[in-house]
Amino acid sequence: MLLGVNIDHVATVRNARGTLYPSPVEAALLAETHGADLITMHLREDRRHIKDADVFAVKQNICTRLNLEMALTEEMLENALTVKPADVCIVPEKRQEITTEGGLDVLAQQAKVAEYTRLLTEAGIRVSLFIDADAAQIQAAHDVGAPVIELHTGAYADATTPQARAQQLIRIDEGAHLASELGLVTNAGHGLNIHNVAPIAKILAIDELNIGHALIAQALFIGLPEAIRQMKDAMYRARSLPY
Ligand code: PXP
Repeated sequence: MLLGVNIDHVATVRNARGTLYPSPVEAALLAETHGADLITMHLREDRRHIKDADVFAVKQNICTRLNLEMALTEEMLENALTVKPADVCIVPEKRQEITTEGGLDVLAQQAKVAEYTRLLTEAGIRVSLFIDADAAQIQAAHDVGAPVIELHTGAYADATTPQARAQQLIRIDEGAHLASELGLVTNAGHGLNIHNVAPIAKILAIDELNIGHALIAQALFIGLPEAIRQMKDAMYRARSLPY
């Protein structure tokens, strides 16, 4: 199972003071050295954390792969076609939200998602759609030709009772298995941390987890290398593998 380290909130800290540090490039290189299998970053329309220059700099310097999260807009499509990351994950975006709330509604905009998927795929970029673990959305992701989906784990992470969490876990497990049957590569992410990652990591149909906020928060206290080491250890242990 792969870990994508999302470095958005390194930029959040930097932007809080308008300094040049902490550097997202430095974070990406450190993350790679200490176990990140890929680097994920979200260029939001309002540029609240990652800026355009960060995307170029990270793409140029890393030796794993860049997973660029972006909204379904023409501006972002042009950016992606210029940067040419290995992967693009298309996410829904609302300006007022604190973070990405809910998955992309592929069903409601199939033609547009299909067109973006085609253009990105033709440019050699692997397309992932960030969706809820909903059978109709998974089927729609398959129908528009996306090779990859990322299941939104936010509702699982935010569940406030064991029952609600168990229900969300079943939903994600069923979604991942349906996606596998359809031949989709299945990733997952959002709201995952060292305490809740194991049940998700246990789902063998999931290939990759993208984790940001909790890793960067842990890094404040124990450093990024140790935060990544502990996360990968938890992921591997969930699959009874040594890390
Ligand atoms: N995956 C996707 C598609 C996201 O949009 C985000 C948040 O940017 C994450 C994963 C990571 O979420 P978190 O920061 O809660 O770990």
